[in-house]
Amino acid sequence: MFGLVKILKDFLILSRLTYIFYPFAKLMNYIYYWNLMVLKVSEYKKVLLKNDFYRLIRNYDDREGMFDFVFNEFNLSTKKVVYLEFGVAGGNSFNKFLTLNSNPTSRFYGFDTFEGLPENWGSFFKKGDMSYNVPELKDNRAKYIKGLFQDSLVPFLNDKGQELTSADLRIIHLDADLYSATIFSLSLLYPYLKKGDILFFDEYSVPMHEFKAFKEFTENFYVKYKPLTAVNNYYQMSFMIE
Ligand SMILES: C[S@@+](CC[C@H](N)C(=O)[O-])C[C@H]1O[C@@H](n2cnc3c(N)ncnc32)[C@H](O)[C@@H]1O
Repeated sequence: MFGLVKILKDFLILSRLTYIFYPFAKLMNYIYYWNLMVLKVSEYKKVLLKNDFYRLIRNYDDREGMFDFVFNEFNLSTKKVVYLEFGVAGGNSFNKFLTLNSNPTSRFYGFDTFEGLPENWGSFFKKGDMSYNVPELKDNRAKYIKGLFQDSLVPFLNDKGQELTSADLRIIHLDADLYSATIFSLSLLYPYLKKGDILFFDEYSVPMHEFKAFKEFTENFYVKYKPLTAVNNYYQMSFMIE
């Protein structure tokens, strides 16, 4: 039996039938991830603390209500936190999180190229889109780290790893949109994550990007988590590490 499988594999390489299957395989892969995402959010539905599903029209600003809710629910406004945001752009969500926590020893780090997306995202957003001047910062607890995460995160963690582990809580906001950026950041942060830490996703329900990255991260690193909140039909979600 095993021998037959080997012969079949070799035949497929030799015959190049793949060229006929490939376009369908790509489509099927996409449909497969859509299915996984729908099944997953249906599971979450039963346990979420906040969920606005179903709504006809999404309102992007409603994510702010979700941030407020999580901070109130878990009394995060005075805790010593380290907040890491992956994908800052013009600083909208970064500034919001600065207002949510008043502990003077908390630290906030925002990572971005500030030169836009390093690759195309889906069919509508092109490499270089979402480029911004580095926004001004008026809070001395906060700092922006300019560059590709793939270049900046290792040196950051070497420098600030201790600060990260000694905080009461780590809050990670994944808002880079891309699969590559999200899986990279989560994988490097794995050794620093502890029970009770909170992850926010800004485009969770995009099947081939943030959804796929979180699924692979939690499965491959055996990370247990619970879903907390969802707004805009699961577009923005939060999770707690268990
Ligand atoms: C949707 S925007 C962030 C929006 C922002 N959090 C807000 O609420 O206004 C996504 C950002 O991720 C950044 N980004 C994506 N992949 C990156 C990577 N690998 N390294 C650095 N920045 C990246 C892009 O430059 C872009 O500014």
